[in-house]
Amino acid sequence: MRELALNILDITENSVSAGAHLIEIDVLADFAKDEMAIRIRDDGCGMDEQMLATVCDPFTTTRTTRKVGMGLPLFKFSAESAGGIFSIRSEKGKGTEVVATYRIGHVDRMPLGDFGGVVLQLVTMNPQVDFVFTAQSGETTGKLDTRELREILGEDIPLGAPEVRSFLREYIQENLVDIFGGRL
Ligand SMILES: Nc1ncnc2c1ncn2[C@@H]1O[C@H](COP(=O)(O)OP(=O)(O)OP(=O)(O)O)[C@@H](O)[C@H]1O
Ligand SMILES: [Mg+2]
Repeated sequence: MRELALNILDITENSVSAGAHLIEIDVLADFAKDEMAIRIRDDGCGMDEQMLATVCDPFTTTRTTRKVGMGLPLFKFSAESAGGIFSIRSEKGKGTEVVATYRIGHVDRMPLGDFGGVVLQLVTMNPQVDFVFTAQSGETTGKLDTRELREILGEDIPLGAPEVRSFLREYIQENLVDIFGGRL
């Protein structure tokens, strides 16, 4: 995986599979400190302690089609090979929080990549899930809350409707350029 955005997509798919109703995704950058953090939090089924203890080992998975789950190990690796820290907290029946931090300027830090595209994909492909995205750099913060969007659009217009989709695509890209300016 060459883009952190694809890691985010992968980790968020775990949250969707866990039956989450609300998923919060933050990308926070502090250029002055050369630090960034990615956080994905869900209210899905969570994991018990035994599962949690082994979940970052690539041979742990509840998949039946193949034995190796790579989402969490790869996300962990992305942080730890770029001067950062990975952490996961989970409570059975409550939800899960995954955090990865990075040195922005580290030679092995993967680029963020098409985070806007991932946001758009998640929002339009998962009508049963609400998302809150936060992008922050210094004083500048952008937020997208699908609960607010759904309220504005009403029940008849889905977030995946073509007009909504193209509006969202532009809105998200503009905001990400304002906040990160292509620096991630
Ligand atoms: N947010 C979550 N909520 C509940 N369980 C989770 C969550 N994230 C991961 N898990 C559990 O941890 C296991 C390992 O996740 P991981 O993403 O590493 O691999 P996978 O999803 O099984 O396979 P892959 O991501 O490679 O397709 C999952 O199978 C799932 O049982
Ligand atoms: Mg996975």
